[in-house]
Parts: sequence; structure tokens; C-alpha cells
Amino acid sequence: MKICNTKKDIRAVREEYRAQGASVGLVPTMGYLHDGHLELVRQARARCDRVIATIFVNPTQFGPNEDLSSYPSDLERDFAMLRIEGVDAVFVPAPQDMYLLGSETVVETKRLSRILIGRIRPGHFQGVTTVVTKLFNICQPDYAYFGEKDYQQLQVIKRMVRDLDVPVEIKGVPTVREADGLAMSSRNVMLTPQDRIAAVSLSRILTTAEEICGSHPVTAQNLSKLIRSSLEDEPCASVQSVDIRDAETLAPIRGRIDRSVVALLAVRFGAVLLIDQRILTPNPVHLQKA
Ligand code: PAF
Repeated sequence: MKICNTKKDIRAVREEYRAQGASVGLVPTMGYLHDGHLELVRQARARCDRVIATIFVNPTQFGPNEDLSSYPSDLERDFAMLRIEGVDAVFVPAPQDMYLLGSETVVETKRLSRILIGRIRPGHFQGVTTVVTKLFNICQPDYAYFGEKDYQQLQVIKRMVRDLDVPVEIKGVPTVREADGLAMSSRNVMLTPQDRIAAVSLSRILTTAEEICGSHPVTAQNLSKLIRSSLEDEPCASVQSVDIRDAETLAPIRGRIDRSVVALLAVRFGAVLLIDQRILTPNPVHLQKA
């Protein structure tokens, strides 16, 4: 596995793959890898001739009071994991190489980046779309892989690629979970033991919501109230948002749920913000009666 620390080096690797006529899959990460990231790599490995992973804790997607300085990192461990998965090259740039002095250009989806998590973390998605655009320009992949756990991020990136005619096919990969249901995230290691136990409530409550939606006619308002009050029963949880939205546009849903929607949760446990999501599909029998 080639380790490239500069844009020049990774561009040379990309040129080599182009000369070989190889297709390239990109897996952008912020490191401290877990099985969720490795699933992205496996999907890229299955489809593409060459796989490039990137490890970059992108400062522009963190707010001033957020966890940038405490973001966990273990590059040697990450490299070992990527090697085992058969990654061909990893790009690990320094912040000053990614953002040259005087950088002032940004990429932003105007609406999608300002709703939901974008309201809790102003500027976050602008940082994501800007760095992802830069990684696409530097690595020039044919495919790029992102987890469905960061559901809004996936929709924001898909929209950015569509709107700007970026020649990269975006692949969403289902959330990988711990045995008890907690969605895998590099942030999970920052949870206290007590919060780690409490955090399982997110996936448990989403499963209940999925069952309710699939078995009873229900309105988005009632379902979201039920989810919120179940989360609030958990003393360690500080509920930031509960939303039921159109699965693609993320527009609010009102009244009876009559198509597949996405339930999006953002909940703080101490200083750690966790998110989770689930696609909810109503039972077609109820739709016919409606
Ligand atoms: O999902 C992440 O880890 C990051 O937001 C990404 C896509 C690597 C951009 O920094």
C-alpha cells in the first residue's frame, strides 16, 4: 500500500492507475477507522480495480467549540487495517497542504447544508462539501463511498455532485452496527461507560419506530413525538433533534406517512454528539385504505 502525504504524490499514483486503464474507488475518512469504514473499503474493493483511502481530519468542518483537537487518531493502526483490506494507496495530507495560505473558495449546497444537523453545526456541511470536492479533484475517482449513517452528509454530497456535474458516482453504504445495535462511529470511544450503555437507546427506539410505521397508520408528528419522549426517558441523553423527512430531499413530512421516509436523530451524551437514522416504510395495506 502506497502512503502519500502530498497532493503531488497521490496525483502521480492516480496517473499510474489511469495509464493502466484501472477504475478507481475513493473512500474518504477522518481516520481512527472502525468496521463501518472497512465496509466502505470492501464495497469499493469489490467494484473497483484500485482503491484509494484518504485520512484527513478536516478542520473546516468543525465549529470553534467542537471536538477537533480531541478527535481520536492512530495512523499506524489505520494503515494496518487498510493494508489487510487490500487498499492500494492512502492519501494523508497535512492541513497546510490541503488548505493553502489565503484559501477563500468554498463549495456549499445552499438549502440542504443549513437544515437539520446544519442548524446544530453551522458551517459543518460547507466544510464537508469543500473538502470532498478537493479530494475528488486531487484523486479523480470514478466512484466514492460514504456511509448511510451520516445520512444528511450523503444527501448533501449527492446533491453537490449532481448540481456541479462532478464526474464521480456516489455509493451509499448501509450503517454497520455494534452487536448491541449502536451505529459504529469514531466518536463512540469518547463516550463514558455509562453513556455508552445509554447510547444504545438510539437504535432501539429507531427499531420501535420502524415497527410502528410498518404495522399501524401513523402521522409524522405523532411518530416523532413518540421517538422524542422515548429518548427523553433516557437520563444521560440530551435530545438535539428528531426529524422525519423525505428520504431524498429531506423536506419535512406532514400528516400520515404514505411513502418511505427517513427518521433522523441527533442526541448528545455529555460532550459527544451522536447521530443515527432509519428508513421507515409504511405498510402498503394501510396506504390502500387511506
Ligand atoms: O464522514 C467523514 O468522515 C467526513 O465528513 C468526510 C466525508 C471524510 C469529509 O471530511
